[in-house]
Amino acid sequence: FVSVAPVSAKTYVVGTSAGFPPFEYIQEGKIVGFDVDLMKAIAESQGFEVEFQDISFDSLIPGLNAGTIDIVAAGMTITEERAKVVDFTEPYYSANQALLVKEGSGNTLTVLFGNHNIAVQTGTTGDLWVEENLEKTGILTGKVTRFDTFVLAIQDLINGNVDGVVLDTPVAKRYAAEKPVVMVAEIITGEQYGLAVAKGNKELLEKLNKGLEEVKTSGKMDELLKKYF
Ligand code: ARG
Repeated sequence: FVSVAPVSAKTYVVGTSAGFPPFEYIQEGKIVGFDVDLMKAIAESQGFEVEFQDISFDSLIPGLNAGTIDIVAAGMTITEERAKVVDFTEPYYSANQALLVKEGSGNTLTVLFGNHNIAVQTGTTGDLWVEENLEKTGILTGKVTRFDTFVLAIQDLINGNVDGVVLDTPVAKRYAAEKPVVMVAEIITGEQYGLAVAKGNKELLEKLNKGLEEVKTSGKMDELLKKYF
């Protein structure tokens, strides 16, 4: 009988929701992007391994709480509501919300009013903004379609099924550069992205914050920002 001591570094499962370029998206069947490289750099600096899991955005926080994933790296905005159920690292990116319309449609920000149809990704801050400011106020009387991924929401916009998509500015800009869609308005929400861990997982939170700090001071962060933005 031989007892074997573990020799390999600990592997943490990182949950993300690809379809949020350039933070996380699928390229040649692989999950790639800024958040992926950032997590790999943090892991390298702190001596652990990472493995990525692509799940729907609104399953990320439940996944942390259930222990099926250890870390969320998904361009997730630090909000008070979320911070009640998970712990966030220091912020690593700032963003606002934006409105995308179809190229050539002649649509403007007036699609946020009246009988227009808007698409969002379920459970995102864009979804919440639309609910709070357009639906509850009655400003918008059309339909709001909530999709599992922004890829589907953008597709619906291009197909002409919805008049606008509300999503984070950096991602809106990326879609506008690659697809027949145009960013016609920025909605100043002043959001900051953080990585998240299960509530109370101090050890991992500390590693992530230390790693973030090192990635920033070593110049790796600037390198990644240059690569993706
Ligand atoms: N920042 C927004 C939020 O926290 C959207 C994030 C969407 N992320 C993604 N990987 N699809 O709600």
